Amino acid sequence: MGKVWQVTAYLNYLRKTKTRYQVHSPFVYDLIEKVFKDKTKYKEFRELNRLRKKFARRTDKIETMDFGAVAGNKDYIVKVKTVGNIVKQSGHTRKQLELLFRLSRYFKPETILEFGTSVGISAAYLSKGHPQAKIITMEGSMGLTTIANETFERHGLNIEVEVGEFGAILNNIVQNVDQLDMVFFDGNHRKKSTLRYFNKCMKCAHENSVFMFDDIHWSRGMSKAWKKIKKDERVSITIDLYWIGLVFFRKGIAKQDFILRY
Ligand SMILES: C[S@@+](CC[C@H](N)C(=O)[O-])C[C@H]1O[C@@H](n2cnc3c(N)ncnc32)[C@H](O)[C@@H]1O
Repeated sequence: MGKVWQVTAYLNYLRKTKTRYQVHSPFVYDLIEKVFKDKTKYKEFRELNRLRKKFARRTDKIETMDFGAVAGNKDYIVKVKTVGNIVKQSGHTRKQLELLFRLSRYFKPETILEFGTSVGISAAYLSKGHPQAKIITMEGSMGLTTIANETFERHGLNIEVEVGEFGAILNNIVQNVDQLDMVFFDGNHRKKSTLRYFNKCMKCAHENSVFMFDDIHWSRGMSKAWKKIKKDERVSITIDLYWIGLVFFRKGIAKQDFILRY
């Protein structure tokens, strides 16, 4: 089902995308102009893109625990993989990562929570976008967290790694933060889990929070979860960029769902 589903979902997405000239929301228009269309090569990109490339070339092997949708009916599967392959299979393109940087730079979140650290690449982009942010990133695979922690230390990044299965550690994290200004959901792409994480994080969300869901069209289940999130009455604006969905809770603006190209 995977590939056929993804192609159909992509064609549907292309059919429905709007251009910026068809967007009448000042908030979304500003975001398009200042973030999506921003072509600035920020000085931080050199170091970050070099880091990403370096990881992709690594041939050393580590033991990983595959959680989430890839594990099927099991809680997790233990596998030995090269670091390079892990990054290529589960990471993002340079363009996508640069967007994460720009979003963090634009919204200036005080607290960011990330589901799925892997080796720490996306967290590094988010952190460099707004170095004052307190970032908490969660990862269940111990071997990956060791690598991520080394990277964060070497690059002087203010990122705290919480090790454990998301469901087991999330309550404690949510209880210990005042609010969540930005959340990046990038692990365990299953409908039920995604909606559960969304509802837990909502306890710390506020009017200016932004939630970012990776891989919203990766499977039928993820597409259903995305539909449900869009319909949630607490949500005002959503933006579907196909590989990621952005969710806003701003008050005083009409509830609207945008499908845009990036
Ligand atoms: C797509 S990767 C994250 C990639 C990373 N955000 C990046 O872009 O650099 C997802 C990660 O989430 C972790 N993960 C998935 N499901 C999990 C779960 N239920 N509990 C803990 N970790 C989980 C996996 O081990 C994997 O490293």
